[in-house]
Amino acid sequence: MTEPASIAVVVGVTGGLGGALAKTLGAQARYDKVVGLARRRPDDWPDSPDWPFITADVLKEQDLAAAAKVLSALGALDRVVVATGLLHGEGVTPEKTMRSLNASTLAELFAVNAVAPALVAKHLLPLTPKTRPSVFAALSARVGSISDNRLGGWYGYRASKAALNMLIATLAIEHRRQRPLGVCVALHPGTVQTDLSAPFRKAGADDTVFSPEHSAQALAAVMDGLGADDNGGFFAWDGSRIEW
Ligand SMILES: NC(=O)c1ccc[n+]([C@@H]2O[C@H](COP(=O)([O-])OP(=O)(O)OC[C@H]3O[C@@H](n4cnc5c(N)ncnc54)[C@H](OP(=O)(O)O)[C@@H]3O)[C@@H](O)[C@H]2O)c1
Repeated sequence: MTEPASIAVVVGVTGGLGGALAKTLGAQARYDKVVGLARRRPDDWPDSPDWPFITADVLKEQDLAAAAKVLSALGALDRVVVATGLLHGEGVTPEKTMRSLNASTLAELFAVNAVAPALVAKHLLPLTPKTRPSVFAALSARVGSISDNRLGGWYGYRASKAALNMLIATLAIEHRRQRPLGVCVALHPGTVQTDLSAPFRKAGADDTVFSPEHSAQALAAVMDGLGADDNGGFFAWDGSRIEW
């Protein structure tokens, strides 16, 4: 029986990290196709059959179901990286104090940062290969670590990333039963020069601010180095484990 084609999928290719991750995975030349998903096609997305693009909103489950149908015809998903996420935007500012807590802002952060990656997993994890290793990774953030929370603030972002981490850990347990070689993890990209971090950027716990390309290359190397024992873990850009 011939092996299915090797597919890498990056969800959120309009983002700083998502765009850089797609380019990095493409440059690795180990996948037959690199597929981008986002609400709109990036202007510089390659016009090539090896670089399919699927228009999909991660908050619309019918979009994800339609995307899964297209992807299932392409091959097996050896890499899936969910690089969508929200820290600030219209009506969303990270809370400095509990006085700023707001139900609709919290709900929006949970929807984008936790619910959306879980729905992506629901539709795409079943398309990972059965007979060879694969990695499904969601970009989380170190500030979602409960044990690492020393500064406080950023309630909604922290809590939504902590919720994402629990969803990943739970998905990993179920995934292992179906795909013993499959790995499902949360990754922290470091502090990276993107629109998401722009208003707040100062050297983070990692003491460095990375370019998206640098972070994407580091994350690709981390994913390449993961084995079945790493399933369900939370890893930083340098491959070190982050405590929950
Ligand atoms: N940059 C950092 O320093 C840093 C640090 C730690 C963790 N992270 C995490 O890394 C991931 C990527 O971040 P980034 O820095 O690349 O951010 P970014 O450049 O702002 O990109 C964010 C991506 O998420 C998508 N997105 C945002 N809100 C959405 C919504 N409501 N519905 C659908 N898609 C939505 C955007 O799509 P549109 O273009 O359609 O809006 C875009 O593709 C995020 O999960 C972030 O939390 C980043």
